[in-house]
Amino acid sequence: MNNLVFPILRLLADGRFHSGEDIARQFSVTRASVWNAIQAAEALGVDIFSVRGRGYRLPQPLHLLDKQAVLDALGAQQHRFQLALFDAIDSTNSYLMQQAASHAPHGMVAAALLQTKGRGRRGRSWQAAFGASLTFSLLWRFQMGASALSGLSLAVGLALVRALHHYGLRSAQLKWPNDILVQGRKLAGILIELNGDMDGPSAAVIGIGLNLNLPPAIRAQIDQPVTDMASHLPINIDPNALLGQLLQELVKVLDTFEREGFAALREEWQAHHAYHGEVVKLLFPDGREQFGHVQGIADDGVLLVQNEHGTQRFSSGEISLRGAR
Ligand code: BTN
Repeated sequence: MNNLVFPILRLLADGRFHSGEDIARQFSVTRASVWNAIQAAEALGVDIFSVRGRGYRLPQPLHLLDKQAVLDALGAQQHRFQLALFDAIDSTNSYLMQQAASHAPHGMVAAALLQTKGRGRRGRSWQAAFGASLTFSLLWRFQMGASALSGLSLAVGLALVRALHHYGLRSAQLKWPNDILVQGRKLAGILIELNGDMDGPSAAVIGIGLNLNLPPAIRAQIDQPVTDMASHLPINIDPNALLGQLLQELVKVLDTFEREGFAALREEWQAHHAYHGEVVKLLFPDGREQFGHVQGIADDGVLLVQNEHGTQRFSSGEISLRGAR
């Protein structure tokens, strides 16, 4: 990647014009190198206005990730986390999985505004352009073993919904097991990867991708209805404040989960479930489809669905859920 891109974006982040000549002088490079870096930034999905005689400008001020700003947003909770912020990285989950294997601390957070190899559930990729989504992972070490963590991904989803409601997005809902939807469209996804014994202790890398402002080219590559924060909130979203809010809610939910398990969060989770009490279509990996009525979620996070055979239990890898209408 062109290594002038992010230094130049930091300069342009104020939303004002900067001439090619000034930028070139600032970084002791030629104007041609500046132009190349601007092209590279545009290839990452950043819009940059270029006006002859005035220089380059972003359409609006850009919030880049900034450690102090995240710490400020974390307030009294900042001692619970150790932050590693990146302009760009392959995948924050891959990075933290490697760090976890070399004794990275509990509470370590890796965050980026661009992932070049972001991963989703079921072997999918997480599409991204620079700043299109906030992508981060949190390393959480548990005394309990991996077998006791079955409701963890649901608990994490609840933390996201709480944070989004605080942030003003009150229409955010959950879709079992752990998607975040707004008006039926996916706003955020969660990928949890576990390391350790079934009996304990274990380490979870909790990866979250939250759409901020998806450019049309990225939307076109996603094979399901999606949405982003910018479509629902009339503010220029500061990812630092948002990350701080999300981490604050995560720490509360994880503390409860560790102490009392998912059972303590179950009712609140159900209250935010987009399909609670609804008829849904269940899709099986072999292509079969079945209809059923969502009765609720059990204490271990499995989905309870009623059909002509009675109440059936489904765990997350077994099915995916669609609205029946
Ligand atoms: C899903 O498929 O819905 C889960 C998407 C999870 C994406 C996040 S982005 C941060 C973290 N790093 C990754 O490579 N994936 C997760």
